[in-house]
Amino acid sequence: MSLDSGTGRETGERIETRERKTVRLAAVGDLHCTKNSQGMLQPLFSHLAESADILVLCGDLVDYGQVEEAKILARELASVKIPMLAVLGNHEFECGQTAELERVLGDAGVVFLDGDAYEVKGLGFAGVKGFAGGFGESALQPWGEPSIKHFVNESVAETLKLESALAKLRTPKRIALLHYSPIQATVEGEPLQIYPFLGSSRLEEPLNRYSVTAVFHGHAHRGAPEGRTQNGVPVYNVAMKVLQRSFPERPPFRILELQTS
Ligand SMILES: [Fe+2]
Ligand SMILES: [Fe+2]
Repeated sequence: MSLDSGTGRETGERIETRERKTVRLAAVGDLHCTKNSQGMLQPLFSHLAESADILVLCGDLVDYGQVEEAKILARELASVKIPMLAVLGNHEFECGQTAELERVLGDAGVVFLDGDAYEVKGLGFAGVKGFAGGFGESALQPWGEPSIKHFVNESVAETLKLESALAKLRTPKRIALLHYSPIQATVEGEPLQIYPFLGSSRLEEPLNRYSVTAVFHGHAHRGAPEGRTQNGVPVYNVAMKVLQRSFPERPPFRILELQTS
């Protein structure tokens, strides 16, 4: 018997199966939690826990990279019981305490991805911080002084980590988490002079090669909310300030509904 000519019960089962395969992904970056943020983020996270199945955090979770800030954020996240994935941002590095920050937030349930592949609720995630260097033909090249080569090599190393994480995923849908932008389109709105510090198009190549379903990044607070790679992969800038400015009527989270098969 075909499902189309089946009983109401069969139809009901079909609907139930389809609903089970929809996963709501919420994304935000650049929370910049400070020592004075106590109580400010918690209402936001409570709202989010009701409207999403997975939360992704795209770096700059804290403002100065201080452990005290991470402890405040961990308390704010206490009400979130859904899986939480994150990448580090440049602000986490300021005090040289990234391991301790990851431990404090890890105890609150946040899983940090740094060249890692992670599968949850039928979706595959690959996460890296990324790095700067600029876009397209204007991207910085590894030529001349050793310090310039070192700078460019950092971007190349982050790209290789992203590629290796994507290669490990076996899920039908692959999501990439970054802090820095892989394309110019989502940093537009920022002063032109700082584009090279907001991302690197070196990060774009593996996103195209592995046909990533969606990319989330932050860092460009004055950038644009969305763009696409050259192959059409959707890229979302989820820096909290971008979401607040672009969608003032909504809570500052980007929600994406994805089918897991
Ligand atoms: Fe930021
Ligand atoms: Fe940043």
